[in-house]
Amino acid sequence: MDLDQSLMRDYWHLLCHRNELPQPGDFLRFETCIGDVVVFNDGNDLVVYDNRCPHRGALMYTGTHGNQPATCSYHGWTYARGQIIVPHRENYPGCELDKARLATFDADWCGDFLFFAVTPRQTLYDQLGDAAEILENISFNIGASADVNQYVYDCYWPLAVENALEPDHISLIHPQTLSKLELEDGENLFMGLNSVWKAPVGNARLRKQLSALRRFFTIDYGYEGYMSLYLFPFTMLSSTYGYSYSLQSFFPRDGQQDTTSFSSRLLTAPLRDAQAAAALESFFASTAQVNRQVFDEDHAVCKRMPRTSWSTDPLRFASRSEAKIQHFRASCRAHLEQTGAA
Ligand code: FES
Ligand SMILES: [Fe+2]
Repeated sequence: MDLDQSLMRDYWHLLCHRNELPQPGDFLRFETCIGDVVVFNDGNDLVVYDNRCPHRGALMYTGTHGNQPATCSYHGWTYARGQIIVPHRENYPGCELDKARLATFDADWCGDFLFFAVTPRQTLYDQLGDAAEILENISFNIGASADVNQYVYDCYWPLAVENALEPDHISLIHPQTLSKLELEDGENLFMGLNSVWKAPVGNARLRKQLSALRRFFTIDYGYEGYMSLYLFPFTMLSSTYGYSYSLQSFFPRDGQQDTTSFSSRLLTAPLRDAQAAAALESFFASTAQVNRQVFDEDHAVCKRMPRTSWSTDPLRFASRSEAKIQHFRASCRAHLEQTGAA
């Protein structure tokens, strides 16, 4: 099995926050190297399943997100209330239609974050280690989804992850966006396979403006600075002051090793009241716009990284800020050694 398939199958992957799919019929779809993974609000629960219809395998959803019944447009089979409803059942003599099921994945929660797995090697909490407490706290300080941004990155996924793991490129690649925060050196913390970077905002004027916004929120957790949490292997969660979180997935795509299925969702912290919501409307709109620009800038530079620029070897020339990349590569090497994946 190759590295991508093996990582996809062996680990838990963060899919979404509970509040991203509040209504029955809400769905999110992710393309991955093991096929499409859909998370769907069935009115009772969030179910995570293989997007292929149990009849003849047509993709039930083709969009990236939205609200739509789980009905296959080919012959109308529908998943509802935990069952597959088959039109014209009389046309299937001798078939055990009652046994038709969605192919669901294992799913588990860390706070209000939903994870899925195929054949996990350990429990979700064992995999998360000390990152679990951070994640739980973050999850209880998220109110709603404010933006969904999904597209294909033209680069191999570890190169996109490594780009997200180091801040050295900020001044050159994000001069009008992230760079404005003038982030200080900050510190890296390592928690098993996962890592977090916390950096104070160096721009005094922005720091003051950001601090002043706290009165609009009802949050009891949030780093007062810029924080970027990496969950091995495919997830990043970043935030400024805990007012919003950008939840990013970098999934390997099927059979196309030079492309990454990228997804970023903007999740906003709960607000004090309707007045706060009105006051922050333009703040969140501009956060969404800036995030989109930052990811476009990252994508533009990631495109310049050929597939052959990545290996699991340690970087030969690693700056202090590239420690998380070294840690990521060491995790990949350890995985290869343990599993014999190639
Ligand atoms: S393939 Fe989905 S209903 Fe036939
Ligand atoms: Fe970047």
